[in-house]
Amino acid sequence: PRTGALNGKHVLMTAGPTFEPLDPVRGITNRSSGKQGYAIAEALAAEGANVTLISGPVSLPTPEGVERIDVRTALEMFDTVHAHLPADAFIGVAAVSDWRAQTVAADKQKKSANSDELTITLIKNPDILASVGLHTTMRPTLVLGFAAETQNLEVYGKTKLRTKGADAIFANEVGDDKVFDQDTTNMMLIDAHGPTSVKRLTKAEVAQDITQYIISRLN
Ligand code: C5P
Repeated sequence: PRTGALNGKHVLMTAGPTFEPLDPVRGITNRSSGKQGYAIAEALAAEGANVTLISGPVSLPTPEGVERIDVRTALEMFDTVHAHLPADAFIGVAAVSDWRAQTVAADKQKKSANSDELTITLIKNPDILASVGLHTTMRPTLVLGFAAETQNLEVYGKTKLRTKGADAIFANEVGDDKVFDQDTTNMMLIDAHGPTSVKRLTKAEVAQDITQYIISRLN
């Protein structure tokens, strides 16, 4: 049902993985198809929201009516998100790499004949969700995050609410290929009212749930 309930609302969101180069041909990434984020962007745009989708590298078409900006690294994603504030709502769906190489080699790194080991120093990437949730001047009315956990959904989800300044966390149970590249996920919503029970939902159903949640919280 298209109600136009989000007409005029700006929703800023991230989706997909990030890619952190090690050299011109190699890098570190996370498993993320972008399917969940793109489904959410599509559902929000269908309700009239102005959706800005900051996307890591994925092979998915841009949903109708969505403004999509492609980025590669976590630092690019961070800068692009902040350049597009203010927003009424922010949703962090991207699987952002926690780490990046301290130095990115200008040339392809060759195998060495005299060593079977390679040491790479990684440094922490900024937390994009926390930087928006804890923003002192431009915090959106609603800040939503995701969590992918193999266990303790509720405990970890509650911690993320607090440490990232989020209003709600959608915690997904992952592992055993239950979620990645799949069309269904096991999800629990955690907000100030506490957790819901875990539901097995398609990513399209999750997108509808989140859209209804945003409609109820923004109006
Ligand atoms: O801490 P963790 O990575 O499990 O938290 C997941 C949530 O935080 C997701 O909403 C993800 O998009 C967001 N995140 C982020 N920037 C990071 C790491 C995670 O926005 N550097």
